[in-house]
Amino acid sequence: MIKKGGYYYPTKEFKKRAWINKSSVYKEAKKNPVLFWEKLAKEIFWRKKWKKVFSHRPPYFKWFSGGKLNITENCLDKNLEERKNKVALIWEPEPVEERERVLTYYDLYRQVNKFANALKKLGVKKRDRVGIYLPMIPEAIISMLACARIGAVHTVVFSAFSPTALRIRLQDTQAKILITADGYYRRGQIINLKQNADKGIKETKVRKLIVVQRAGNEISWKANKDVWYEDLVKNEKDFCPAEVMDSEELLFVLYTSGSTGRPKGTTHVCGGYSVQAKFTGKWIFDLHEDDIFWSMADIGWITGHTYTCYSPLLNGITFIIFEGAPDWPTPDRWAQIIEKYGVTTFYTAPTAIRMFAKYNGKIAKKYKLDSLQILGSVGEPIDESAWQWYFREVGEKKCPIVDTWWQTETGGILITSLPGIGPFKPAFTGLPFPGIKFDIFNGEGESLSPRKVGDLVLLPPFAPGLLRGVYKNPKKYLKTYWSQYGRKIYFTSDAAFKDKKGLIRIVGRVDDVIKVAGHRLTTGELEAAINLHPNVTECAVVGIPDKIKGEVPVAFVVSKKLPEARPLAILKKEIVDQVKKEIGPIALPKKVFIVKDLPKTRSGKIMRRILKRLFTGEKLGDLSTLANPGTVKEIKKCLKVGDKRS
Ligand code: WTA
Repeated sequence: MIKKGGYYYPTKEFKKRAWINKSSVYKEAKKNPVLFWEKLAKEIFWRKKWKKVFSHRPPYFKWFSGGKLNITENCLDKNLEERKNKVALIWEPEPVEERERVLTYYDLYRQVNKFANALKKLGVKKRDRVGIYLPMIPEAIISMLACARIGAVHTVVFSAFSPTALRIRLQDTQAKILITADGYYRRGQIINLKQNADKGIKETKVRKLIVVQRAGNEISWKANKDVWYEDLVKNEKDFCPAEVMDSEELLFVLYTSGSTGRPKGTTHVCGGYSVQAKFTGKWIFDLHEDDIFWSMADIGWITGHTYTCYSPLLNGITFIIFEGAPDWPTPDRWAQIIEKYGVTTFYTAPTAIRMFAKYNGKIAKKYKLDSLQILGSVGEPIDESAWQWYFREVGEKKCPIVDTWWQTETGGILITSLPGIGPFKPAFTGLPFPGIKFDIFNGEGESLSPRKVGDLVLLPPFAPGLLRGVYKNPKKYLKTYWSQYGRKIYFTSDAAFKDKKGLIRIVGRVDDVIKVAGHRLTTGELEAAINLHPNVTECAVVGIPDKIKGEVPVAFVVSKKLPEARPLAILKKEIVDQVKKEIGPIALPKKVFIVKDLPKTRSGKIMRRILKRLFTGEKLGDLSTLANPGTVKEIKKCLKVGDKRS
């Protein structure tokens, strides 16, 4: 990489290999973004061509309407023509002593078709929702594709989510089938996933639980409900005709945290998503035939959908999925995997990068990481020092770092500089992808000049992969995305600014979403979980900065119903357990403070901003709107000494 005035650019040799290496691509796309996307769409396989590329009835929009396709024909059947025996997927299990599993495109094709046939036999039809609650094993990818093959809508639930979190999602989608596993490995322990699934399907419509055998742990079994995956697929045929899907029909629903307590199901459709998933992957990670791509994201999140599953397959490359934690059993496990398989493109989150940097600053000297060509970052802002470490120690100053900004809602990456063009600048995500229009607005909807922080908004024609709705909640869709600046502007809920070259830097969310180790949570859903504890009167959760995880939740709890004799330490532990039960281990508050009262406005609104600033030591700002200014002093004391009774 070449450095010029704070910006980095690819070398000549690097440019030569890149699919996209001329900045004219931006100009052309800008002239006519609709035509730009249409050209790309022509490069994938459609059963029937679209009638209209883009139609817009604000806020609703469609891409490629009238077009028909099946994403799995693009992921599998098309690849059989040129790369039937090429390795598609390499699965690295968590236990070091266990052998990897390798599936060629032909293997994967047969497995998907068999399972698709099995699902059909169980009565799954087009448009039915199917829950997937699986760890990172090949069957997770197979299950997603098998659903897509028959036009069923998959809803993946992150395997570390609690039974309650699973239940909420299954109830919302009314799924009748859930695919799970007996167990899986996490940091040397076997997690009994089947047990969680059993609890999670209570009070739902799930009538069949398909269980993949993974860890061989003991599980309970209900003969009328449970069925082994292996038994189901054993005698199925290798071919299942792909359901011909309309471009705008649902491919999947993925739940994410919004500004209120309940997660919302973002809906994604077949046509636009396929086009965006394929070409963002191809251009941003510069995917070529010989690439070995490793995206660390779990399929429970959008990054896992688009870049751990669909995009690598749409591009016919070899990719890795990893069951475990990247620092288990030794902190350099991630580097071992890169060396073992000769990974060329590595995609992870800043939290992981900071953790790697902390554990082993000089890792590159110990392992051969020189296969790497491109490094990616996603999910939260990457600070300059993490960026520099990643660039120097992992990429040996030769790999571009594509810092990719996007959201569950956008389906694919929308902001990042392209590796064959640049420029790259630490802590800046980069330029909008060609054909994508962003702006930064002040509260009045006026465009801001460089260096001024404002709301990041997406302008028409948006992006082919942008969500089409919130599952069964049209009001929420309108309110969350299309109300701040009218029906023609998509509001991202992020604050950002541009530099003089137009590179975008993300400042953070303007709503109450927090990013804990890259995982998206809201303070609202944590508060809802804590409020379920019988001794809690009210509470407020805020995200505070953390050196490794980016942000962590901290809870302030008022407990007027607590018997005098009850130690606060027990209450605090129960509150943490309550969050674990309702959401899962990823959301645990780092600290719980028991306070007498919470700072509130006269209309009774909790001022979370003040709580956060009390913690970070920033200036508190105007306190005149507070109805109970005395609380500030009390909480300050509490932060200093801890609570008296704990
Ligand atoms: C944040 C993850 C800074 C942002 C793909 C966004 C980022 C939210 C970046 C979406 C980045 C994502 N730099 N912030 N490169 N990427 N974000 O839905 O606040 O889990 O709105 O999607 O993550 O999180 P989600």
